Amino acid sequence: MLSYRHGFHAGNFADVLKHLLLVQVIDYLKTKPAPIRYIDTHSGAGLYELRNRMSQQTEEYRLGVGAIELSALPQSARAWGALIGSYLAENRYPGSPLIAADLLRPQDELRLFEMHPAEYEQLATLFKRDRRVRVFHSDGYAAVKSQLPVQNARALVLIDPSYELDADYYRVAEAVKEGLRRMPNAVFAVWYPVVAPKLLQPMLRKLEKLGGKRGLKIELHLENEEVLKGMRATGMLVINGPWTLADTMSDSLRVIAEQMSGKFTVASA
Ligand SMILES: C[S@@+](CC[C@H](N)C(=O)[O-])C[C@H]1O[C@@H](n2cnc3c(N)ncnc32)[C@H](O)[C@@H]1O
Repeated sequence: MLSYRHGFHAGNFADVLKHLLLVQVIDYLKTKPAPIRYIDTHSGAGLYELRNRMSQQTEEYRLGVGAIELSALPQSARAWGALIGSYLAENRYPGSPLIAADLLRPQDELRLFEMHPAEYEQLATLFKRDRRVRVFHSDGYAAVKSQLPVQNARALVLIDPSYELDADYYRVAEAVKEGLRRMPNAVFAVWYPVVAPKLLQPMLRKLEKLGGKRGLKIELHLENEEVLKGMRATGMLVINGPWTLADTMSDSLRVIAEQMSGKFTVASA
């Protein structure tokens, strides 16, 4: 069984990049009334306590959300800051499904996939009263087949594996390929850690080829020596994202990366 628990890492600098981007993409999609289907292939538990054993053991959030002065954010990051800030005030941190659920409208729907039994239980409990949400205790990569295409709606697919298995790198690229075949205008947002270059680079090359002119790659590099033994950089590759995304992410990251003592890059994929 897989052992990864996101509670050890919630709110770290990778979550900052990923969730900032998620908020900006959803806010853009919401400028049109047509419904959105949000698919989270690797959902995690949905909500994390920052004062529990897992979080306190690593304290990764201190170099992530903990390093950011939310009141000093530029306009492009304020929606993200306000949402995250409301949870931080209670020493909690929201995962991607909860961020999406908070932002999405009554006409939108969420399809959440999670394999770990304990994470799945928490996720299912969190959303049991939300009629827009369906939670699946099954393989998220298969979601591109079961959930796409969507008729009369847009689709946003977040693919955020833990990369515990080498096969994840291959499966991510295959899932995006299959998803684009089924729904060429769906938005795909893939998170990746900048480690294991022999596995990562072939995956990125495949995704960049699939994205063509519709692809955008954004990376955040931490220069803080303090923690992060394995991962010093993280990225998001987006296909079919908003045309404004490069500008809004650059604007936000100029401030956020500086506050975290990091650097960022934004490039066509
Ligand atoms: C990085 S965490 C997800 C974090 C979440 N997306 C967020 O941003 O808050 C990855 C999750 O994927 C789950 N997982 C691993 N393999 C999976 C698979 N094939 N299908 C669905 N979930 C999987 C793990 O149990 C873990 O909870």
